[in-house]
Amino acid sequence: SITRHYNFNIKLHNVTRLCHTKSIVSVNGQFPGPPIVAREGDRLVIKVTNHVQNNVTLHWHGIRQLQSGWADGPVYVTQCPIQTGQTYVYNFTITGQRGTLFWHAHISWLRSTLYGPIIILPKRNVSYPFAKPYKEVPIIFGEWWNVDPEAVIMQALQTGGGPNISDAYTINGLPGPLYNCSSKDTFKLKVKPGKTYLLRMINAALNDELFFSIANHSFTVVDADAVYVKPFDTDIVLITPGQTTNVLLKTKPYIPSAKFLMAARPYLTGQGTFDNSTTAGILEYKRPSNSSISNKKLPLFKPTLPMLNDTVFVTNFTKKFLSLATAQFPANVPQTVNKQFFFTVGLGTSPCPKNQTCQGPNGTKFMASVNNVSFVLPTISLLQSHFFGQSNGVYTTDFPVKPLFPFNYTGTPPNNTMVSNGTKVVVLPFNASVELVLQDTSILGVESHPLHLHGFNFFIVGLGFGNYDPNKDPANFNLVDPMERNTVGVPSGGWVAMRFFADNPGVWFMHCHFDVHTSWGLRMAWIVLDGDLPNQKLPPPPSDLPKC
Ligand code: C2O
Repeated sequence: SITRHYNFNIKLHNVTRLCHTKSIVSVNGQFPGPPIVAREGDRLVIKVTNHVQNNVTLHWHGIRQLQSGWADGPVYVTQCPIQTGQTYVYNFTITGQRGTLFWHAHISWLRSTLYGPIIILPKRNVSYPFAKPYKEVPIIFGEWWNVDPEAVIMQALQTGGGPNISDAYTINGLPGPLYNCSSKDTFKLKVKPGKTYLLRMINAALNDELFFSIANHSFTVVDADAVYVKPFDTDIVLITPGQTTNVLLKTKPYIPSAKFLMAARPYLTGQGTFDNSTTAGILEYKRPSNSSISNKKLPLFKPTLPMLNDTVFVTNFTKKFLSLATAQFPANVPQTVNKQFFFTVGLGTSPCPKNQTCQGPNGTKFMASVNNVSFVLPTISLLQSHFFGQSNGVYTTDFPVKPLFPFNYTGTPPNNTMVSNGTKVVVLPFNASVELVLQDTSILGVESHPLHLHGFNFFIVGLGFGNYDPNKDPANFNLVDPMERNTVGVPSGGWVAMRFFADNPGVWFMHCHFDVHTSWGLRMAWIVLDGDLPNQKLPPPPSDLPKC
């Protein structure tokens, strides 16, 4: 293993999409941001210098950060922001992970323009558990606003309403030909016949799960969230914000007389048709230079995508993911549990503050919560307060282990869901074996929540619809080869059960990876205490850790 150094300069950069030019916050003037490429076991030293007026932090989404919690990045959870003119060096080792992850800003909505791939190759001389692909291609989905996304979320929070939806979804930063004034901003994948390509897909969009497909081609899923899976074939992929999926794409054995649209559009929102909620790119075959046919004139085939509310597809697709669970890549699933939690996740409303008019349902204000608690970010980082024993006035350790006000989560919701504000955490002893059931509350209609846990991968041992039944459902848990990942879609009107070992000391954020839900409070934090052995303790912070 080696140490790899990166310089990330946060600076403004002009970008034009959909005929709108705006100045975005970028890394090194690139959009999407530069990829990080490393091997399993390597150390990364990423020097981040902030040259813009916004406060910034970066997060290495899905990296375990074993004993390096100071490098995790969520603002006011593991660090104070990097202010204008300041530098912070993120220093961490990639342990036991290989596949695709991504980095993104973790403050307000800056990740709308600050994101890029993390590509983790296997150790030298170690091969993939599938045939070596001819080429590897990152496919990173994003969302584009013609205006400043910071203003969009600011306005939503001030008025209590929903934020303006984005103007486009993007593939590798490009909306593609189905949007107005966008055909030149189309991602093109040029392939050779008879080859296998590894597509490293990342959903970096802020607020939507996406279906993705390529006309007349199918995929073999081999890896998700940097964990190998039992390979399975599919024509369509669903990917939630925060998830990554590696698929093999086999090209036709001959050069076809057509071009193929690749397209992504949201699950549960938008129109569900090929329109301006669909981002697209084009797959075309390279032709020999003496070919009499030009790609320009070929017909363009379109893929089929599920209906916008096709929860049956989503559930079946989610259930196809299973860990490899081989001797080389075992699934270390906790077989017994000593800490059990049941969390409701969902949206809600709260009364409009006096002297304000609110644009949420019936003049209320949108909010979101976990177990009826809407999480408020502190003004100094939780990790600092915890490490130096100064929690007083920063956070409390009384996060409820079950809902404070239970109700029938899939029936008619009560008028008042009793949401309160707080900065509450759960404290776990080192190496606790944890079971967490997440129940969607569907209070404001159908919604799903891509829940992301920092610092860990968890095993998805169960998933179902309706209300979770603690007396019946555990009998069907998969404790043999469940999927291991860092982000899971809690089904709309259903639940998921996960298990993990709390083997990583520090403070770990957990939140919905829809930024709007996070902003409304669908977030909380876990504190994992040090173990007794030296290699079970969180080291002190680096000297350049930003101050508040
Ligand atoms: Cu990708 Cu806390 O986020």
